[in-house]
Amino acid sequence: MQHIDLHDLGRYSDVLLSRDGEVITLRFADLADADALQSYFRGLSSGSRYNRLMGAASELPAGQLDRFTHVGEDDGFTLVATTKRDGVEKIIGEARYAIDDESNDLEIGLSVDDTMQGRGIGAALLGNLACRAAALGAGRLFGDTLRSNDAMLALARKAGFAFVPTPGDWKQIRFEKKTALAPDDIPCASWRLAAIAASAHAA
Ligand SMILES: CC(C)(COP(=O)(O)OP(=O)(O)OC[C@H]1O[C@@H](n2cnc3c(N)ncnc32)[C@H](O)[C@@H]1OP(=O)(O)O)[C@@H](O)C(=O)NCCC(=O)NCCS
Repeated sequence: MQHIDLHDLGRYSDVLLSRDGEVITLRFADLADADALQSYFRGLSSGSRYNRLMGAASELPAGQLDRFTHVGEDDGFTLVATTKRDGVEKIIGEARYAIDDESNDLEIGLSVDDTMQGRGIGAALLGNLACRAAALGAGRLFGDTLRSNDAMLALARKAGFAFVPTPGDWKQIRFEKKTALAPDDIPCASWRLAAIAASAHAA
């Protein structure tokens, strides 16, 4: 699987649009985002937090916050979705992927701030993750979610994921999809960078 250049993370940022046209920036989270990311998790409704963390918690546990803000640690990467309000950046969503080099799969998870849900942002994040998976050369994209999480199940179904049992946990279900050879939607930055590198190599 391809790996990203950890010294130049800004190149991998993307701009997404909500269904009603609000501009959302998607970029890798780093240490400087720790407080804002924790505030984001604290600000989620208890139901959204429960669904995202798959258990009751009032905030992101310290160990997870540490992992979420160390790009590439354990082959895990967190993206924060941000908007600007009165010139101030605000985290309104996050998506995380982890690379499994052995299986060549990308495991994903995501959330959107409750006040921003239902505006197509989850679908845009999922599409972006699929594009990044394709650019990285992953064969498959998958995530586990609670069987009771109707919103995530509907989102995954609409995005063409299939469902299989989560190994070892009957309360969860796995949504999975083979990676497309080319992004169906607008190509993400990772895809563009991979295409540029491939054409430079061929020249
Ligand atoms: C799941 C989640 C990310 C969806 O984000 P979102 O921005 O609200 O989703 P979108 O607006 O892009 O919705 C896309 C599609 O998903 C489905 N969907 C989203 N929310 C839904 C809900 N509450 N009930 C039923 N279907 C829903 C719909 O099919 C929708 O398409 P439509 O708007 O054309 O009907 C969001 O609900 C969330 O953050 N939940 C808490 C965290 C979580 O559960 N994460 C998943 C763990 S991996």
